[in-house]
Parts: sequence; structure tokens; C-alpha cells
Amino acid sequence: MLRKVTEATAIAILATLAVAGPVVDAHKGKTVLSRPNIQPFPHNSGRAKPHSPPRTKACPVTALGGGKDDAPHLLSAFHKCNNGGTVVLDEDYTIATALDLTFLNSVDVALSGSITFKPDIDYWTANAFQYDFQISRAFWKIGGKDVNFFGGGVGVINGSGQPWWDAFAANSSLLRPISLVLDGLHGGSISGIHMVSPPNWFNLIANSSDVIVSDMVLTAKSSSANPVKNSDGWDTYRSDHIVIQNSNIDNTDDCVSFKPNSTNIVVQGLSCNGSHGISVGSLGQYLGQYDIVENVYVYNNTMSNASDAARIKVWPGIQSVFQPTLSGGGGSGYVKNVTYEKFESINNDWAIEVNQCYGQSNQTLCDLYPSNMTISDIYFIDMWGTTSKKYDPKVGTLVCSSPQQCYDIYAKNISVTSPTGKSEWVCSNFDTSGLEGFDCVPS
Ligand SMILES: *[C@@H]1O[C@H](CO)[C@@H](O)[C@H](O)[C@H]1NC(C)=O
Ligand SMILES: *[C@@H]1O[C@H](CO)[C@@H](O)[C@H](O)[C@H]1NC(C)=O
Ligand SMILES: *[C@@H]1O[C@H](CO)[C@@H](O)[C@H](O)[C@H]1NC(C)=O
Ligand SMILES: *[C@@H]1O[C@H](CO)[C@@H](O)[C@H](O)[C@H]1NC(C)=O
Ligand SMILES: *[C@@H]1O[C@H](CO)[C@@H](O)[C@H](O)[C@H]1NC(C)=O
Ligand SMILES: *[C@@H]1O[C@H](CO)[C@@H](O)[C@H](O)[C@H]1NC(C)=O
Ligand SMILES: *[C@@H]1O[C@H](CO)[C@@H](O)[C@H](O)[C@H]1NC(C)=O
Ligand SMILES: *[C@@H]1O[C@H](CO)[C@@H](O)[C@H](O)[C@H]1NC(C)=O
Ligand SMILES: *[C@@H]1O[C@H](CO)[C@@H](O)[C@H](O)[C@H]1NC(C)=O
Ligand SMILES: *[C@@H]1O[C@H](CO)[C@@H](O)[C@H](O)[C@H]1NC(C)=O
Ligand SMILES: *[C@@H]1O[C@H](CO)[C@@H](O)[C@H](O)[C@H]1NC(C)=O
Repeated sequence: MLRKVTEATAIAILATLAVAGPVVDAHKGKTVLSRPNIQPFPHNSGRAKPHSPPRTKACPVTALGGGKDDAPHLLSAFHKCNNGGTVVLDEDYTIATALDLTFLNSVDVALSGSITFKPDIDYWTANAFQYDFQISRAFWKIGGKDVNFFGGGVGVINGSGQPWWDAFAANSSLLRPISLVLDGLHGGSISGIHMVSPPNWFNLIANSSDVIVSDMVLTAKSSSANPVKNSDGWDTYRSDHIVIQNSNIDNTDDCVSFKPNSTNIVVQGLSCNGSHGISVGSLGQYLGQYDIVENVYVYNNTMSNASDAARIKVWPGIQSVFQPTLSGGGGSGYVKNVTYEKFESINNDWAIEVNQCYGQSNQTLCDLYPSNMTISDIYFIDMWGTTSKKYDPKVGTLVCSSPQQCYDIYAKNISVTSPTGKSEWVCSNFDTSGLEGFDCVPS
């Protein structure tokens, strides 16, 4: 088998690329990517991006082809290029066995080819990495320090979601892996990758800090009658100082979701379509657990054809079974200092939704058992556009458990209209005097 980019040519190219953009290897006609200079823009998470020294060695990986498992020699390449190298992935790889990459230190990954996860449902059901949080599963996990994973606008990560969505339609207990899990990554970037067809969420960023995600394209489309399931763009969990920016997302569930203990997060320059919004939560799912979402800035985003644009969802103070693999309620904690600013809403069912009764259809029970999560210091600034006809003439809903659980909620310069041109807001159980210009109606 011919190695498309030899180690020597890759090193030479990487050296010249320290300053230049992507170039083509003249010998093989293949693109070798250089690390892009990804900076948070215009806002950062309140902390400078950590320094990431240039890499000094390269490890190209030859794909076995024919759907054979490339995981073992991918793992070898990561060991070989750990501590200062670039793993060069310029072919079409298959991952058919679980891959633990949480030992990384100062590594770049240059993906100009593709990574496809073999849809072997029996294998992954038994062997995917398992997390307690929302019974999550992972094909692979990346963690450590100082990792830059870039696709230069051409690299692809393919979760092979279709067979999983089809199987899920027949078995709603099927636990499906997340396409990319960052678990304990401190310092790094993920950029320029086209992610397609996740069996479950696209990305989970857990136990991580100082990570920037930029210039991504996320696409989830079903080719059968069975819908795409979940497909959250990015979920952050137990993570601090994360920036997600300049990306296009086409999915069917949250575009971005801030799960328990997400702090100092910036989301900017996203264009989301078909989702459930840029969402805080759900939180308060686990009795006895304390969830914090604090210092979140969601700036300059567009949301189209979604159930919600800006959303905050927390469980009530009583447990319920919402879906076969989603039950909870009774957990405590707080949501504090969250700003949504410059947000365009196009044809979303709700422009803003604040809900303290998530997962419970019986409002009487929510009134009897108010949420144990407080929501405070929330700002909605400069939102414009339209909602869908679903709740016309209503354009938003902010319903709390009680004024003790929701306070200091502000809205300013919001001009979102329903198809009939009216803009009614459902707002109840909290002090609504901070909502400038809202025409509040009862639910
Ligand atoms: C993703 O992989 C599946 C096979 O698992 C293939 O059928 C599909 O075409 C791939 N999608 C893309 C966009 O490459
Ligand atoms: C459904 O999926 C679950 C979880 O993988 C599995 O335990 C169960 O056996 C499956 N049920 C059927 C009918 O295949
Ligand atoms: C995060 O860290 C905790 C504690 O080390 C660990 O139990 C968990 O598996 C990690 N990952 C996720 C996704 O929760
Ligand atoms: C808003 O985001 C878009 C990318 O979606 C970017 O081109 C534009 O410069 C951003 N505007 C501001 C004011 O940050
Ligand atoms: C956007 O989402 C809507 C609703 O899910 C879908 O019908 C449409 O095809 C999506 N647009 C694109 C460009 O994929
Ligand atoms: C969140 O952080 C708080 C404060 O450090 C801690 O008490 C709580 O257990 C954490 N919750 C989760 C879900 O990690
Ligand atoms: C509130 O969060 C923003 C980021 O959205 C941050 O700049 C600001 O310092 C936070 N305020 C407080 C009081 O922590
Ligand atoms: C929203 O959905 C409509 C109808 O499916 C579609 O024409 C439009 O392109 C979608 N918007 C985006 C941004 O994809
Ligand atoms: C809702 O909960 C209340 C209080 O437990 C109960 O009386 C009522 O029957 C429930 N309603 C429905 C529709 O289940
Ligand atoms: C949670 O809420 C329930 C019902 O309101 C209450 O009985 C319980 O004391 C609360 N627990 C905590 C830890 O706040
Ligand atoms: C209100 O928001 C619109 C849309 O972002 C913006 O053009 C306008 O300048 C804002 N007005 C004020 C008074 O801030």
C-alpha cells in the first residue's frame, strides 16, 4: 500500500506551514493542513487562550481501507506523536473499536481526510465508553493538554447515524454513542471539521477548560422515514472557559446546550437551523445533585426553524419519567448571569422560553413542587425577527415556579413578531418589570 504523504514530506510541509495556509503536497497531490490561528472573536471567555508551542514531528497514518478498523494504528500514531507532534490524517479512516485518547499532551491532529465510525450496533452497545451523565456513550474520547484538532474546512467526522436512528425507531432504549467527546481536555481547539450523521449528540465537552471551537459545519439529515434523534451540536458539562463560534449547524435538537457546571462560556457567530435552541439545561435532573450554569454570553447568533431561539429549561422539584431514557427532577442549583445579545430569530416556535417545569406534563405537580433551581441575572438584549405560526400571536414564554426561584430577569430592545404581526409574551410567577416593552399575557 502506498503511503500518500511520507513522514519526511509531511515534516517538511509542516515546517513551511508554520506561517502559510494549507498547501498541496506537489508529489501526491494531497492537501496537508497547517494549524490555523484560531482566536476567540469578538469576545473571549474572560481568560486568554493558552500558548500552544509549534509541533516538531509528524505522524501520517495509512488507512487500511475497505471498512477495516484503523483504531489500533491511529492509537500508535498518537503515542508516537504525543509531546509535540502532528498526527496527519489525510485518508479515509474507519473506527470500529473504542478509542481512548485521553493521554494527549501538546499534539495537533490535521484531518484533511475523513473518520467514519462503523455502525456495528452490537459492538458499540457492549463496548462504547459509558458515562453516568444522561446515560451517555462515546465511540472515542479525547483529553489531556494542548490539543489542536483541525480540518481546514475539508476534514469529515461521520458518525454513520442512519442505521442508529433506524434501530432507535424500533427500540427507544437503544443507547447511541456521541460523535466526539472531549473528556478532560485542558487547552486546545477544534476547528474546520464537517461533522455528519451523529447517532446521538454531535459533541460533548466534559471536564474540560480553555477550549475553543470554531468554523465547524454540523449536518444531521435522515434519509429514511425515521427521524434524526438528539443530534445536539455541543453540550458543555463540568467545563469552564469554553468558546464556540463561527459555525453552521443543521440538526434536530439543541444547537448548543449548557449542561450542569458550565461556566464562563461564550457562543458567538453561529447559524443554527432546525434545532431546539441555544439552551441552558436541562438542569436539576438529578435529585441530590447541585448544578451550576454561570457567566454565559451568547452573542450574535441566528436561529431558524427551531422550537426555540433562547431557552432556559430546568426540571421541577419532583421526579418524573419524561422519555424512556430521560427521567428526573428534584435536583438543585442555580442559573446565574446568562446573556443572550444580538439574536436573530427566524420562524422559531418561541423566540424565548424559560421553563421550570421541564420533563413534567402535569403543571399542578410543578406548582406543588417548585423547581429547586434558581434562575437569576438573565439578560435578553437586541433580539429581532419572526416566530412560526405554532403559538401565534404568542412569541415567547417565561414561566417560573415562583418569584423566589426566578428574579432579576431583563429584556431590552426585543422586536420579534408572529406571522399575524402580533407579539404576545406569556410571563408568569416572577417580577416581570424588567421586561421592557413586553405585552405579558397569562398562559
Ligand atoms: C457516512 O458514512 C456512511 C456509512 O457509514 C455513508 O453511507 C455516508 O455516505 C457517509 N456520509 C458522508 C457525508 O460522508
Ligand atoms: C433495546 O436496546 C437495549 C439497550 O441497548 C437492549 O438492552 C435491548 O435488548 C434492546 N431491545 C430489543 C428488543 O432489541
Ligand atoms: C468527568 O470526570 C468525572 C470525575 O473524574 C468522571 O467520573 C467522568 O466519567 C468524566 N466524564 C464525564 C463525561 O462525565
Ligand atoms: C457575527 O457573526 C458572523 C458570523 O456568523 C460574523 O461574520 C460577524 O462578523 C459577526 N458580527 C459581530 C458584530 O460580531
Ligand atoms: C432547516 O430545518 C428545517 C426544519 O427542520 C428543514 O426542513 C430544512 O431542510 C433545514 N434547512 C437546511 C438548509 O437543511
Ligand atoms: C458543580 O459544582 C459544585 C460546586 O463546585 C459542586 O458542588 C457540584 O457537585 C458540581 N455538580 C456537578 C454536576 O458536577
Ligand atoms: C457575567 O458574565 C459575563 C460574561 O457573559 C462576564 O463578563 C461578567 O464578568 C460576569 N459578571 C459577573 C458579576 O461575574
Ligand atoms: C428554514 O426552513 C425553510 C423551509 O424548510 C427553508 O426553506 C429554509 O432554508 C430554512 N432555513 C435555513 C436557514 O436553513
Ligand atoms: C396532576 O397531578 C395532580 C396532583 O398530584 C393530580 O391530582 C392530577 O390528577 C394530575 N393530573 C393528571 C392529568 O395526571
Ligand atoms: C427540593 O424541592 C422540594 C419540593 O419543593 C423540597 O421539598 C426539597 O426540600 C427541595 N430540596 C432541596 C435540596 O432544595
Ligand atoms: C435594537 O436592536 C437592533 C437589532 O440588533 C439594533 O439595530 C438597534 O440598534 C438596537 N437599538 C438600540 C436602541 O439598542
